[in-house]
Amino acid sequence: MSRDRRAVVWTRLATQPMKMGDLYITDHDCRFSYDLDYLHTGLPGLGLIYAPGIVQENTIVRPRSEFFEFLPPIQALIPPQGEKNFQRQLILNYLSKQAVQPPLADVDWEILKVAGHGGIGHLDVFESDDRALEWYGQPAKNELFEVSDELGFSLKEFLTWFDHDAEGLINIIGPTPSVGGAIPKLLLSIAETGWDNRIGLPTRLGARGVTDVVLKFEQSTAYPGINQLEALTLDIHREAGFEVPRYWQAEINGIPVLAVERFDRDKYHVPVFTESLYSVLASGDADITHNYSYSYDAIGRAIDVSPIDIVSDRQAGKLYLFKRFILALLTGNGDLHMENLSLMWRDGQQLFTPVYDPTPMRAYSIHNMLTVMPFGNYGELIAGRDVPVGLLDGIKRFAASLKMSPAQTGALLSELMALTENYTSRIALLDRLPQQNRDNLISIVEKLRSRLSELSD
Ligand SMILES: Nc1ncnc2c1ncn2[C@@H]1O[C@H](COP(=O)(O)OP(=O)(O)OP(=O)(O)O)[C@@H](O)[C@H]1O
Ligand SMILES: [Mg+2]
Repeated sequence: MSRDRRAVVWTRLATQPMKMGDLYITDHDCRFSYDLDYLHTGLPGLGLIYAPGIVQENTIVRPRSEFFEFLPPIQALIPPQGEKNFQRQLILNYLSKQAVQPPLADVDWEILKVAGHGGIGHLDVFESDDRALEWYGQPAKNELFEVSDELGFSLKEFLTWFDHDAEGLINIIGPTPSVGGAIPKLLLSIAETGWDNRIGLPTRLGARGVTDVVLKFEQSTAYPGINQLEALTLDIHREAGFEVPRYWQAEINGIPVLAVERFDRDKYHVPVFTESLYSVLASGDADITHNYSYSYDAIGRAIDVSPIDIVSDRQAGKLYLFKRFILALLTGNGDLHMENLSLMWRDGQQLFTPVYDPTPMRAYSIHNMLTVMPFGNYGELIAGRDVPVGLLDGIKRFAASLKMSPAQTGALLSELMALTENYTSRIALLDRLPQQNRDNLISIVEKLRSRLSELSD
């Protein structure tokens, strides 16, 4: 038996920081109750399924499992285990230097309290209301630092974002930290007009002349050329009519970086309600255990029949899903799982966010597969057949499950094939992507195009 543990959830959705509610864990459950004042605001809450209007004065209770220790929208704030995740390592090091060690089972809870605020999205978790007020009370630091040999903007500055009392963290890293490929992603601000070699802390209310970005450092050993690939596929998605954030490619200390403007902040730097499809669907279905646990057909069905609007315009939402899926195939992206699709609340509408992470991971042989995007029973042995469902059949089945006619499917395929006509020649121009990866990706894409042309008009 152990005592219930408490944390608090705050948000800046109302522009000014406001408490959303109390979060508890017991040994078995994760629980959350909205503050009555928050319920009166009419603002969105933790997530789409856990909407204030539905939950009201009740307490959300979800059993903790090995897959979801916490409610899915809360779980999304914790840097995942099992990867060499910079942020996670940092916080773990910090925790390991604390006088009192958290029991192993509580490590994620401790990480949540230290690092569950100031990140992507609209939710901020703190240890207590006092900590929340203290954190929000920090003055906005608008300063941009020139990127220099020492990374200019020091990691120290960055760490103070999490905790102004970050001395412990800083001592671990040392006074002049090197980037060294150990930092895959940072949240930063840059000049509003675009990358000019200066970076600063993420914005707070009242910041001027700056915009928030996700800055990705290329892990050049594991994924050489990945930033160029991401940039190219962002362009292609923009050409296909999708909303795509602004982005900039640059170098810091010789390391290629890609800065992508954040869509989870509005032009006044106020957080926007965002939630990944994974979090939405897992909130509603306890059988979902991974970001690829649901087929595209099931996602389409959920959009269609869910009693809660996953997207306000269901027809448009299903079409979006199908187009993203086909474009992922055509660009060689096998990584369009449910965490790479998110929803946002904007202008009174619930809709898919702008595109992020469209990188054609199949360019790297260990990712050359489609297993994290199951669709139309592709590759499965289903009743009445003695061979697994093939690619074209899978696409047809997925389209049919979305209630799209063969004519509509064919027309969409033709449109996207035409749009990506010059894709392979653009891959050939990526000078940072090794020749072999270029050749592989081009051959994967060419094969797919020739298969898909059978389905297009
Ligand atoms: N431009 C953006 N604006 C807001 N949020 C973003 C943006 N780009 C990415 N994100 C968020 O950050 C998360 C990680 O980004 P992304 O998917 O691009 O990187 P990744 O390499 O897949 O990293 P990870 O393995 O952490 O998912 C995304 O799941 C999304 O929630
Ligand atoms: Mg991703």
